[in-house]
Amino acid sequence: MAEQKKTCGLPILLAGILAVLICGAYPLMSATSSMSFCSSVCHEMGVHREELRSSAHARDKDGKETGCAQCHIPSGFGPRYMAVKIYSGIKDGFVHLTGSPVNLDRAALQISARRFIDDDNCRGCHADLHRDAKGEKEISDIGGISHDAYLGKNGQAKSNCAGCHANIAHLPEFDRRLEVNRDFAERIRNKEALRNAK
Ligand code: HEC
Ligand code: HEC
Ligand code: HEC
Repeated sequence: MAEQKKTCGLPILLAGILAVLICGAYPLMSATSSMSFCSSVCHEMGVHREELRSSAHARDKDGKETGCAQCHIPSGFGPRYMAVKIYSGIKDGFVHLTGSPVNLDRAALQISARRFIDDDNCRGCHADLHRDAKGEKEISDIGGISHDAYLGKNGQAKSNCAGCHANIAHLPEFDRRLEVNRDFAERIRNKEALRNAK
């Protein structure tokens, strides 16, 4: 794809909105091509793609690569809505709007991203909240209690899915030390080691 070679001359914010607009406007694009588009619009997003590929969400149950839009673009809303949401949610997260190199303040971005991820996207793949991620066995006790609360059966959880499930697709350096992320962090480190050895 020609876009892949371009450097990020545009302010990163505009690039982000454009990426979301285009990915949102072409739901018929295959997951992989929209993913390569999303992450090549600006090479900063290449990091997110690399992390996704080492995560439990690298592939769906049929073995197809998961695309950015499958989590980040709400199915029920048009691109205009998303442009506004992304703009208002993400504008504070970008440290530099212009200038280079562009740094992402990932801790700030995590917070806005978690708020805007639509639960319906998660539930599209995780229909039964009383089964584990593979759908093979019953969910753990703590998972069952939490999901009953989410479903309003037992207390009431105020969080959305992404509010409780952090680091399911991306893992910035500062979250790699956490025990819950041990396997994910190790897969990323192994890949980095392989790359550096080349
Ligand atoms: C394209 C389908 C798809 C979407 C969208 C999706 N998941 Fe998953 N999810 C999977 C698959 C496949 C696995 C891995 C199952 C396995 O272990 O083989 C998984 C694993 C998980 C796990 C267990 C592994 C881990 O990283 O902790 C959690 C928790 C989870 N998903 C939550 C979510 C949440 C929350 C969302 C929405 C932000 C979401 N999923 C969106 C398909 C999906
Ligand atoms: C109040 C917090 C909370 C909310 C909200 C929540 N979950 Fe969970 N979820 C948990 C906990 C806790 C577990 C159990 C984790 C464990 O056993 O290590 C869990 C487990 C899971 C698992 C199984 C993971 C595995 O290892 O197999 C999936 C899949 C999952 N959640 C998806 C979702 C989806 C999709 C949503 C939104 C519809 C959601 N969760 C909302 C707290 C939450
Ligand atoms: C399985 C769901 C899922 C997929 C697929 C996914 N993301 Fe995310 N993304 C999340 C969640 C959840 C967050 C909230 C922060 C966190 O907990 O990691 C997030 C946060 C982000 C953030 C801001 C926080 C950070 O880590 O810098 C960016 C930027 C991002 N995603 C880009 C992408 C791109 C680009 C792709 C495709 C290559 C992608 N995402 C694919 C679930 C997903």
